Amino acid sequence: MSAHQHMQDALRIEGGRPLRGAVRIAGAKNAALPAMAASLLSGDDSVFENVPEIADVEVMAELLRRLGAAVHRDGDTLTVRGDGVAETSAPTDLVSMMRASFLVMGALLGRFGEVACAPPGGDVIGQRPIDVHLTGFKALGAEVGRRGDKYYARVPTGRRLHGARIFLDYPSVLGTENVLLAAVMAEGESVIVNAAAEPEVAFLAETLNAMGACIEGAGTHSIRVQGVRELHGCHMRIIPDRIEAGTFAIAAAATGGEVQILDAEPRHLDALLFKLAEVGVRLEEHEGGFAVTGRGRYTPTSIQALPYPGLATDLQAPMAVLLTQADGVSLVHERVYDNRMMYLGELRKFGAEVASAGSTAIVSGGTPLVPANARALDIRAGAALMIAGLLAEGASTITDVYHLQRGYDDLTGKLTALGARVSLVSSRSWLGD
Ligand code: EPU
Repeated sequence: MSAHQHMQDALRIEGGRPLRGAVRIAGAKNAALPAMAASLLSGDDSVFENVPEIADVEVMAELLRRLGAAVHRDGDTLTVRGDGVAETSAPTDLVSMMRASFLVMGALLGRFGEVACAPPGGDVIGQRPIDVHLTGFKALGAEVGRRGDKYYARVPTGRRLHGARIFLDYPSVLGTENVLLAAVMAEGESVIVNAAAEPEVAFLAETLNAMGACIEGAGTHSIRVQGVRELHGCHMRIIPDRIEAGTFAIAAAATGGEVQILDAEPRHLDALLFKLAEVGVRLEEHEGGFAVTGRGRYTPTSIQALPYPGLATDLQAPMAVLLTQADGVSLVHERVYDNRMMYLGELRKFGAEVASAGSTAIVSGGTPLVPANARALDIRAGAALMIAGLLAEGASTITDVYHLQRGYDDLTGKLTALGARVSLVSSRSWLGD
């Protein structure tokens, strides 16, 4: 990144214009990152198409390189070759940048029988423990502990990981993925009970099966794995990003626009689409996507963020912004994270009438939003403020835009094509120093 680009740390939005047109959804961040980690399990080439161009993918690519993999990108195709991987201690500087980096634990443990990795970084959205991951590794026969700043897991000398029946205290997405990565080459059968059922978990299992693994039941809460001796390379297309699709759908509705969401999978968005229809958004499914037609005003409702197939927690904040345009009071319950309501303070700057009570937001709708300067606190809180900026008539600025760049491919390009007036600017230019 050039010094000039680096200065462009804010998103300037001239809001009040309905989004109109078509937008192509990129491959899912949260499917691409686990697939990249899975490529560590084989020495061959693993080829992934439809890989989003986002900062988190770059961080994962760099992490794989530092472990010895060869990573090459050509357009939206990413190839990882794992034969040079020899390092089993993950570099802390990269691990601390992103939570998904902790997936190298399961992959390196599975392939080499030993791994060390610092606790992962990631968004500040509540307690994000890793006990589910570590308990799973132990159940598979690994010794797990902490040495200095790193967790380690290793198979006792002369042994292999063995299959086990593993109960997850919570259906953690990355926890399920990590245990799956470790279990695919263990000796014998494993059953993961209370597994996360997110489409991204199912996609990881499909990727592993394409590499020669034997997994059944992924996408449900019970996953069965028959361990295999060896895995080979694969060629997979990353599934569409349901959170990006949902974010554009909500933005289209909130601005009273009309947008075709292309290359999306509506089946992964049932909870959102049901709620959008309930509040009065017009939706039409078509081949490879769906169309969203917004209105001026909506019906209030209550929503709750839950594990899949419930409404995704990553769409909770964007939905709260839409509900500021409903005629009456809506309730927004966050049931996945214990601290994902911090964005409400930033949303108030736009004139939204929102109050919080623990993990519930009370949204009093019907208030026209006004432009504001607000700070993105994490990726999805940033997306919510961006929608508020698109709604509010006048110039808004969202600072710390790097959060958005971690997860949304070509955000300004896509919004501009939909008729929005957005640009990346330096926050210093409007702070006046
Ligand atoms: N949890 C535990 N113990 C654990 C792990 C998690 O109790 O060992 C609890 C957490 O405290 C939290 C809940 O489980 O309350 C959900 O966390 P989960 O582990 O399922 O989340 P994650 O796997 O860390 C992934 C996504 C998140 C998304 C959540 C929930 C990736 C890379 N990240 O995180 O996505 O919000 O699942 O669906 O897949 C994002 O993309 O912006 C993002 C934060």
